Amino acid sequence: MLSKTIEDALNAQIRIEAESSQIYLAMACWAEVKGLEGVANFMYAQSDEEREHMLKLVKFVNERGGHAKISQLNAPNVTFTSFKEMFEKLYEHEVYVSQSINELVHISLQEKDYASHNFLQWYVAEQIEEEAVARTILDKINMIGDDKGGLYLFDRDIENLTVTTAATPGPQ
Ligand SMILES: [Fe+2]
Ligand SMILES: [Fe+2]
Repeated sequence: MLSKTIEDALNAQIRIEAESSQIYLAMACWAEVKGLEGVANFMYAQSDEEREHMLKLVKFVNERGGHAKISQLNAPNVTFTSFKEMFEKLYEHEVYVSQSINELVHISLQEKDYASHNFLQWYVAEQIEEEAVARTILDKINMIGDDKGGLYLFDRDIENLTVTTAATPGPQ
């Protein structure tokens, strides 16, 4: 059974994951209308992933005797001055989500809720990867600068971008 404190904190995270999905969907649309198909597809996939993160939390809350709250969301930014700005926003957002997950882990320990603590470890590992991916993309964008040819290649290659971190499960 979830304590009220943990249930509220998990529900707050459900909202953050839902907002993340909307933020990346808006980025996908912006990239798509700008003609960068690769970036758009990458962002659509990110948006889907965030919805998965949300659903995982929803099911956990409901299974443990809580009630997942589906709430109104803040509207995302729909335009950006550049791709660099868009990816800076993505990175900043992932850092914000990581902080929120850390706070949630802290609350689970305070509440002595070891089941939630264990469940949240998946999110801790996921955030290491998401931050690493966002940082790798930003590095590439910074290298490209204003070079149109570079942006073309970046758009072509972004869908195959993989980053291996310490949190990546190795071969068994
Ligand atoms: Fe997420
Ligand atoms: Fe994320």
